[in-house]
Amino acid sequence: MEHQCYHIPVLLHPAVDGLHIKRDGVYVDVTLGGGGHSREILRRLGPKGKLFSFDQDKEAIRQVLNDEHKHEGTWTLINSNFRYLRNWMRYYQIEHIDGLLADLGVSSHHFDEAQRGFSFRSDAPLDMRMNQQANFTAADIVNSYSQQQLTTLFRLYGELHQAPRLAAAIVKARQQKAISTTMQLADILIPLLGHDREKKDLARAFQTLRIEVNHEMDALSEMLRTATDILAPGGRLVVIAYHSLEDRLVKNIIRTGNLEGNLQQDIYGRIQNSLRAVGKPIVPDNDELTANPRSRSARLRIAEKA
Ligand SMILES: C[S@@+](CC[C@H](N)C(=O)[O-])C[C@H]1O[C@@H](n2cnc3c(N)ncnc32)[C@H](O)[C@@H]1O
Repeated sequence: MEHQCYHIPVLLHPAVDGLHIKRDGVYVDVTLGGGGHSREILRRLGPKGKLFSFDQDKEAIRQVLNDEHKHEGTWTLINSNFRYLRNWMRYYQIEHIDGLLADLGVSSHHFDEAQRGFSFRSDAPLDMRMNQQANFTAADIVNSYSQQQLTTLFRLYGELHQAPRLAAAIVKARQQKAISTTMQLADILIPLLGHDREKKDLARAFQTLRIEVNHEMDALSEMLRTATDILAPGGRLVVIAYHSLEDRLVKNIIRTGNLEGNLQQDIYGRIQNSLRAVGKPIVPDNDELTANPRSRSARLRIAEKA
């Protein structure tokens, strides 16, 4: 559906400002999406600067391919999961980077393309893969995970207090017929959700499956560890998170240098952490929230490497 905007960038200027771009620096945008942040980074780079933009979704890469040529020598597109950041930087012989931006989760395009199965607003196969080459879908989860596994998922990733009931309803329904579409799943879950929070909780249940299908927490953990290692002194880490689990990992690594959030001290009691938070977390202002309601759960954190 090319007439639709692929994605409206969230917190565009605060995020790119947070990178403190040097004209000839090396930057990575691990979540290209519609390319909004990448284009703003390119605008601030000189001819000797470099930007590597990742997206695991071929469609995201495809829609900016023509522009890559216009920035030859500066812009490199990488169709890969960002968890392989370290390998890709090695491949391009990049030892250190001056900044990394991550705008996590899915793009509006994923919700707008009904066939991708991310949205409960239209009926489609229950898919939710960001990487369409992967062979594990949301339908595989709801039809094969045990009731206990489903309960844990809804509790952990969805923070849904109805987790055990949702899991039980899925297991019961699939005994009659495999669950293969978004509407089928919505119809199973809706009767168990509070009337006042129905949409919110359904969105959380769908988000739970999306996180699991795409192994989002593992990929984020791996990428954050690598980013911390490869940032040059003074380099910036800029992350926009959309739910508390993501944000917790980001906050932990910035505060303590590790994902668990354990403060580590040397024998003199000095805290061992090469990152330092820059300012407080930033959220969209009212103008942005009105113009782009999808920005509502965004939280931007910026850190600098010592
Ligand atoms: C919120 S959108 C980014 C939007 C972008 N900043 C813009 O301004 O248009 C997130 C994008 O990151 C991609 N993505 C999410 N997780 C990823 C991962 N682990 N590896 C690579 N790409 C990922 C998604 O496919 C999606 O296109």
